[in-house]
Amino acid sequence: MTTELDFSPEKLQKLGFLDVDVDPTLDLFEEINKLKKEKNAIILAHYYQEPDIQDIADYIGDSLGLSQEAARTEADIIVFAGVHFMAETAKMLSPHKKVILPDLKAGCSLADACPAPLFKKFKEKYPDHIVVSYVNTSAEMKTLTDICCTSTNAVQIIESIPKDQPIIFAPDINLGRYLVKKTGRDMVLWNGTCMVHEIFSEEKIAKLRMRHPNALLIAHPECEESLLEKADYIGSTTGLLKFTMRSEATEFIVATEAGIIHQMEKSSPHKTFIPAPPENTCACNECPHMKLNTLEKLYVCMKYEMPEVILPEWVIREGVKSIDRMLEISAKAGL
Ligand code: 13P
Ligand code: SF4
Repeated sequence: MTTELDFSPEKLQKLGFLDVDVDPTLDLFEEINKLKKEKNAIILAHYYQEPDIQDIADYIGDSLGLSQEAARTEADIIVFAGVHFMAETAKMLSPHKKVILPDLKAGCSLADACPAPLFKKFKEKYPDHIVVSYVNTSAEMKTLTDICCTSTNAVQIIESIPKDQPIIFAPDINLGRYLVKKTGRDMVLWNGTCMVHEIFSEEKIAKLRMRHPNALLIAHPECEESLLEKADYIGSTTGLLKFTMRSEATEFIVATEAGIIHQMEKSSPHKTFIPAPPENTCACNECPHMKLNTLEKLYVCMKYEMPEVILPEWVIREGVKSIDRMLEISAKAGL
């Protein structure tokens, strides 16, 4: 595909997105829907995307659902409205498809916390351990991983490993500690955290609970241990959403990225969802990486089919094995 734009790969890499003016009179919903049909493209969006992107997506889900959808889609182009590691996972599962994302710079603090060369050295200290990595890692990290997991299937993945087999778990130390408690397995943990989930203020949450005594506190397992201990329910984004739908409670304090509240409000319009407050007055309960994607960038990336996720062939070949194992175990567990 050629464009009339002068965008070298270097420039695109530096900026992360195609910096072109979008006609403000355009109906972006209509234009994006037209592009979807014309190009046989599918838009996959994570729950943390802004509401407009969630509303135009063909599929909205958590990391596991998004990878399952990426593996099964028959579209020619996967437009990934999420962060970079999610788009890389989609590319590894569908290497012959074009995978584009609105902003290449949409990273993840967990993935950044575990650079593959450092992890390789760490892993050498534990030659008899197998590596389970949270899917929030770079494609290269996946080549050093035996089995990936997401927060939806992490317990089942750990439980599928023989009890006498020692495990390294990377990169999220909070999810790791939660899994150690939940499964009784003593794992070696890498010390990474998510910048969004470690910023919640327990003091402000306690005050909120006093003002809303009937509200349930629901939390993502990336939150710190002390917060998880106080939670009424712990789960992945899909887990949290489903819990709010089936619970008889009508008020929830939501300790995860605030984007998920859009789907919670759509599924249960009569219930109240209060975002758990961060420690300071910033909007730190919004993931700055996820929120780099906008409807305008989504439109431009679909129009010009850039930026595209390109991975070395060996990374796809070696890295996909850990994702395939995760999908196999999940399918067996009915997830
Ligand atoms: P989920 O798999 O629960 O959607 O979590 C992804 C993520 O990045 C959480 O911060
Ligand atoms: Fe990464 Fe945290 Fe953002 Fe999820 S919310 S993408 S773990 S930085």
